Amino acid sequence: MKANNMNVKKLKILSYGCQMNMAESERMAGALAAIGCMPEADGIENADVILINTCCVRETAEEKIYGKIGELKAYKQQNPSLIIGVIGCMAQKEGQNIIRRAPHVDFVLGTNKITELAAAVESASEHRRRHFVDTDLTAGGMGDATPLRESKTAAWIPIMQGCDNFCTYCIVPYVRGREKSRPAAEILAEINAAQAAGFAEVTLLGQNVNSYGKNLPQENITDFADLIAAADRTGIGRIRFMTSHPKDLSDKLILTMAKSEHVCRHLHLPVQHAANGILRKMNRGYTKEHYRELVQKIRDAVPNIALTTDIIVGFPGEKDEDFAELLAFVEEIGFDSAYTFLYSKRTGTPAAAFADQVSDETKKARLQKLMDLQNKISLKLNEKFVGRRVRVLVEGASKNDPAVWTGRTSENKLVLFAHGNEQAGEFCDVKIEKAQTWVLKGVIV
Ligand code: SAH
Ligand code: SF4
Ligand code: F3S
Repeated sequence: MKANNMNVKKLKILSYGCQMNMAESERMAGALAAIGCMPEADGIENADVILINTCCVRETAEEKIYGKIGELKAYKQQNPSLIIGVIGCMAQKEGQNIIRRAPHVDFVLGTNKITELAAAVESASEHRRRHFVDTDLTAGGMGDATPLRESKTAAWIPIMQGCDNFCTYCIVPYVRGREKSRPAAEILAEINAAQAAGFAEVTLLGQNVNSYGKNLPQENITDFADLIAAADRTGIGRIRFMTSHPKDLSDKLILTMAKSEHVCRHLHLPVQHAANGILRKMNRGYTKEHYRELVQKIRDAVPNIALTTDIIVGFPGEKDEDFAELLAFVEEIGFDSAYTFLYSKRTGTPAAAFADQVSDETKKARLQKLMDLQNKISLKLNEKFVGRRVRVLVEGASKNDPAVWTGRTSENKLVLFAHGNEQAGEFCDVKIEKAQTWVLKGVIV
């Protein structure tokens, strides 16, 4: 199958999981465009190639994805030349199991195999290799295809792969391998290219961006603060990054953020828990006191910065008093929003073997309490925006109502407003009239 003499194949990528997966799906689309496989805007029923880019961070994610893979069997029966590939984190973890459970899948590629994707699609289309599985983490990579980006306003840019932290609940280090940073020159070139292509915003991605550069050879830029400073000098409208790990967030980075022109006033800083005993058992490498001090420093340096976080409820050994401590800390810090998760046992991680697992019932009751509290806090903090004029990067029409458009503030608050003449990718000013838990509503001024 060659780009110049084959019929164009229609590609559909279904992406699950975190922003890293979204970013990689865009790179896969880029790599496949080079062999004449072009994204299909409509439903999967029209696709010639379906890729499922998977996540396995929680059991619920895996179940959902296995369900989706099962659904595709009917499509394959209707159209035997349909190519189905499963890639990403769950593919890395499950490998051959996927083929066993779903023989209608043509190939399974792990997290370090974007470089192999085009060859896997080509050989499946020529019926050369059926049931091909490659989950070798030691060779491969992201490849150098230009990503086909979904958003017209904001570009995802991976700056590193993998994770070395081994939080005891987490599967990511096992399915993504050891931490590896991309050279700064490559990242800056990608930021410049995104800017030249009209993107107003970039988000730099990694599992722990604060440890960027640790394994790079001596260059001009070998830490995250220097990378952010260099990104700032490119002049791109907005710079975001995630995820920051509290144990590695440096004073230098805080200072760099404070001095920067383009870095957004938002920090996603997963706390996971607040009881020191739990944090220790999670192997997070910091205490509640350290986290509190960090937040103080950040707020002193960047007043009114929005803080968001991730929290796990029901980690093994979490007692009523630990949970009470978590609620009190959430109240004390005042996060703008929080992603809250029920602890999910991941086979192979240390915490899965911890003795004192919390019952589902207790976990769910605690999660509900935490969400209720967080929603109240989010609303209260959003209400502070009422009457203020905010700068918004316009994203486009909202899903529910084409007359209502959306955009985001520097703090990453979603803003809804009645559409005038503004176009996606432009900045405009909105006066906020109403605050809700998840959104701000206003009018263009
Ligand atoms: N590298 C990032 C994000 C990793 S996954 C970080 O360190 O913050 C995103 C979130 O999923 C984590 O922050 C954590 O809150 C959650 N998570 C990871 N493993 C989990 C598990 N076994 N059960 C429930 N939530 C989990
Ligand atoms: Fe998982 Fe911890 Fe690594 Fe984040 S830092 S990916 S939570 S092991
Ligand atoms: Fe999921 Fe992999 Fe991201 S497990 S959260 S898609 S790194």
